[in-house]
This record gives sequence, C-alpha cells and structure tokens, in this order.
Amino acid sequence: MPPERLVYLDHAATTPLNPRVLDAMMPFLTSSYGNPSATYGLGKTSADAIAKARKTVASIIGCRPTEIVFTGAGSESINTAIKGVAFQQKKARAGNHIVTSQIEHHAVLHACQYLERFGFEVTCLPVDGHGLVDPDHVARSIRGETVLVSVMTANN
Ligand SMILES: Cc1ncc(COP(=O)(O)O)c(C=O)c1O
Repeated sequence: MPPERLVYLDHAATTPLNPRVLDAMMPFLTSSYGNPSATYGLGKTSADAIAKARKTVASIIGCRPTEIVFTGAGSESINTAIKGVAFQQKKARAGNHIVTSQIEHHAVLHACQYLERFGFEVTCLPVDGHGLVDPDHVARSIRGETVLVSVMTANN
C-alpha cells in the first residue's frame, strides 16, 4: 500500500486498476484463461469476451469493431500506430513528414528516429519552461507532406 500522505502524480505512466475493471477481468485471470486463438471451448470463451469488448470499445469511440486493435502495452500501441500510419501514408505517396515534440516517451522518439532511416523527415518541437508545446508552433510545422502529428496530452 502507498503511504497515506502520498500524492501520486504519475498516473499517465501507471495507475491503479479501477475496481470495476478488476471485477470484469477476474474471470479471465482465474477460471476462463483459455487462449482466444485456440479451438477448444475454454479458448472460445476468451474469444467471445474479446469480440464483445471490441464491440463495446468501438461503440464508445464511434468506429467499426474491426478498427480496434488490442495490444499488450503502450510501446506496442505507439509503434503500431506511428509506423503503421507512416508506412501506409508513404505507400500511398501522401508524404513523409512527421511532427512530434522533444518530451515524448522514448517509444515515440525511437519510432520516429527509426522512420528517418526510411526517408521520413521528423520535426521535433521544443517545449517552453513549463514543459508545454506551443499549439501555434505545431500548426506552423504542418505542411503538405505531413502525414502524422504525435504530441502527448500530458507528460508524466
Ligand atoms: C507517456 C508514456 N508513453 C508510453 C509508455 C510506454 O508504455 P509501456 O510501458 O506500457 O510500453 C509510458 C510508460 O510509462 C508512458 O508513460
């Protein structure tokens, strides 16, 4: 348990599990632990639960269930999103420019550095003395060949 007087300011990085999430997940952490890719019954239960969760998330954010990709971690999501968008846009000849900021997580910065090897140009915006990115600076950095802007809402 954390000390009683602890003021925890790193929820952007790790956060305690919401009790409702824990309740919903308990069956899959204890009894219904089947591999959703498997053909046996226990796996089918997991696959059905994932399909239901995918539908729920899609209805909340207003997209198709097939557009939802569940990942195992933030870094995996970030790499999938940044490299996925970048390579898809390059293939479509839409452009090769990415805007990000100097205070992004390494998962973002390293993904952008990786893309530079494939001909992408990355604009890495500075922050002010309060750690804030100037939105006008972001807007001014966007140009015809910009395919992606990746700037975090809150830096942990
Ligand atoms: C802002 C931010 N982005 C990405 C990550 C990476 O997430 P994960 O450790 O789940 O890969 C973290 C982890 O602390 C983070 O704080």
